Amino acid sequence: MTSDADKQLRVSKIRDGTVIDHVTAGQALNVLAILDIDGSGGESVSIGINVPSDRLANKDIVKVEGRELSQSEVDVLSVIAPEATINIVRDYEVVDKKRVERPAEVTGIVSCPNRNCITTADEPVSTRFEVLSDGLRCAFCGTIVRDDEIGEHLAVA
Ligand code: CTP
Ligand code: ZN
Repeated sequence: MTSDADKQLRVSKIRDGTVIDHVTAGQALNVLAILDIDGSGGESVSIGINVPSDRLANKDIVKVEGRELSQSEVDVLSVIAPEATINIVRDYEVVDKKRVERPAEVTGIVSCPNRNCITTADEPVSTRFEVLSDGLRCAFCGTIVRDDEIGEHLAVA
């Protein structure tokens, strides 16, 4: 007999590591890019894109085996996946569950859309944005990147 739970499980459970759940649909690959996770460290990474969710219409999910991500590492994800929950898994059990929190600023992950900004010139200046309630403001030129525009300005993708 196949239970409903069996039918619904799309990405295998992990034994030890981090599950980034309730990721805004379509953002899973950006999550990996921002966290600089590409499997080159040998860790197993599973992703689900556009999987059904109770809480969101559809969601993405990212599971990283063998790595426990810290709050400061994951907070930057809030700019592309504000509803994300971070589950730390040990021996198959969720031992910690936290929400991502908007940091005060983000450095190096978004590029400034202003072509005259010093960060887009041939200068070794990394980008820095102040995090507002609905977007980001370039610390150098003041240009605003709205939350819904961030995906197209990711410097890491
Ligand atoms: N998970 C996993 N491997 C485990 C344990 C959990 O991949 N060994 C995943 C689950 O599939 C789920 C997420 O981690 O996507 C959170 O697990 P859990 O807290 O058990 O699920 P829910 O109660 O549904 O979480 P929430 O209330 O946050 O939706
Ligand atoms: Zn700028």
